[in-house]
Amino acid sequence: MIPETTLNQIQERVNIAEIIGARVDLKRAGKNFKANCPFHQEKSPSFMVNPDKQIFHCFGCGVGGNVFTFLMKFEKKDFREAVEVLANHAGVEIPKDKVVDAAKEARQNELIKAHRLACEFYQNVLWKDKVSERVKAYLKSRGLTEETIKDFQIGFAPEAWEALGTALKKDVPEKILEKSGLILPGKEGKYYDRFRKRIIFPILDSKGVCVAFGGRVLDDSQPKYLNSPETEIYSKGRQLYGLYQARSVIRGEDFVIVVEGYMDVIGCHQAGVRNVVASLGTALTSDQARLMKRHTSNAYILYDADAAGETATLRGLEILLEEGMEVKIVRLADGYDPDSFILKFGIPAFREALNGAKNLFEYKVALLKTKFASNTVEGRVKIANEMVALFSKVKNEILRAAWTQELAKELGLSEAALKMEMEKTGASEKPAQPFQPQIQIRPAVTGEIRTAEKILIGLLLERKDFLLKAREFLTVEDFRHPALRKIAQEMLLSVEPPTSLSGWMGLFREDIESAEMMAMAVAEAEKVSFKDKAFEDCLLWIEKTKIEVRREQLQAQIVDAQRIGDRNRIHQLLQDFSELNRGMKKSHEKK
Ligand code: GTP
Ligand code: MN
Repeated sequence: MIPETTLNQIQERVNIAEIIGARVDLKRAGKNFKANCPFHQEKSPSFMVNPDKQIFHCFGCGVGGNVFTFLMKFEKKDFREAVEVLANHAGVEIPKDKVVDAAKEARQNELIKAHRLACEFYQNVLWKDKVSERVKAYLKSRGLTEETIKDFQIGFAPEAWEALGTALKKDVPEKILEKSGLILPGKEGKYYDRFRKRIIFPILDSKGVCVAFGGRVLDDSQPKYLNSPETEIYSKGRQLYGLYQARSVIRGEDFVIVVEGYMDVIGCHQAGVRNVVASLGTALTSDQARLMKRHTSNAYILYDADAAGETATLRGLEILLEEGMEVKIVRLADGYDPDSFILKFGIPAFREALNGAKNLFEYKVALLKTKFASNTVEGRVKIANEMVALFSKVKNEILRAAWTQELAKELGLSEAALKMEMEKTGASEKPAQPFQPQIQIRPAVTGEIRTAEKILIGLLLERKDFLLKAREFLTVEDFRHPALRKIAQEMLLSVEPPTSLSGWMGLFREDIESAEMMAMAVAEAEKVSFKDKAFEDCLLWIEKTKIEVRREQLQAQIVDAQRIGDRNRIHQLLQDFSELNRGMKKSHEKK
């Protein structure tokens, strides 16, 4: 960790306009500077640098942050490296870390270097080596263009036993190469390459740093894929393949598509569907779900249409639900995965499949109907039984009631019979299983909510009096958008709130996404002309949505109480309900 005081010293001494100006052609625009954005293609400048606030922001692609995040993005550095460059520029000395941390960090940097060089090596083999003609032909036969191959930094590991080891030996110690798993110890103290005669798919972390590889055979031999082992810089359950390339699109579209394979990500990407990630052949983990949640709360699971895919879908679904994501499931025609489906049927058909995505209930019913004959009584009872077992995992009572009703209709059974069945299995009680997904019928975070929350954050960053008021009247849960909520958490709860914008950004220095979101929020709030009024509106808006959510909850509880005929409870709930409505009227009148 670099001490706070050092970071502040650096920030005080460097000027963001000067640092960016040395790398990008800046033009003065009033008290700001503008330029064509270095992070996306554009013809007219929407990239702004604000020297007063010491931040930058692009209105085109949404990147933004402070001088540290700029260097991290522009020169693909990690935080420490960016600080080092700026410290050097400002003439500030960074105090030495504790020895242990330093050793670990040095090792990690060496590992990263090994991967960077290996990634270059494999690509060189693919593009420069004659023997790779066959490989290129294969990739082409799979429909990949040169551009896609380069976008995903695909390479090829030659057939030799010591090609990579020999090439990297002069730059990276053998011990490190062994730790990276790129070479393995063989006989007589010699090493041999892990990946041989395989197409290489580099796995990038969310900053775009290569931390592992997947290698595919060229033919039908086994194993089809070989992956890097877990190392100090790579844990497969913590990465999502393609996230680096997909993340800005995931935010833009506000949903993510989760597929199974490398080729699915790449195939979708090339066809123009870019908000796609793969779970790297393992079952989804909560870490991966949280990675997604940083960008969106909506996921589409799109696994292969086979038995393994089915199991994986249901498991992935549980994980995502547990992390509070809204999930839909897409089932493609039998025998296809997303990649082969797009190649065969094209993008319109693919989009149509996405539109036909099902929720958990619909998916499971459809699945069971393929297993049991729904035209016989026995079949329908079997389907009902399995569905009832599923219902027991659903916490939300109104949802369960709605599903029961729908299932009864679907199967032509009486609702009463289903309910009886549920009582027997205990599905109508509070479920006792360890797994209890929180399916909430909470309206999704709409664009409107996002904008209101974003402006609010921007206003809090701009004015201390707003911040103090917000800390008094708002809670973190009032923010519904996950990325904004994360920022709100710091802003509302931090014990020693920073006093400047760069101080706030400093809190998110390792988290570029949040820093970007902050810069966006500041830019958004800057456009607002009547700040006090805007602030009041934002608070009202939040209050209003809060009441709406509470109202929905109450309605659900009332329906449920009616169902079981609990008069006292109904009475109490109705009272709460009308109180809530009165409160709502008041807040409208205030407007
Ligand atoms: P193609 O067959 O080239 O289209 O590849 P794919 O990416 O569609 O792979 P597939 O659907 O067969 O498998 C999905 C994912 O599971 C792969 O991308 C890998 O991450 C993983 N996987 C598949 N086979 C193996 C294997 O033999 N070993 C390991 N470790 N992972 C595998
Ligand atoms: Mn495939």
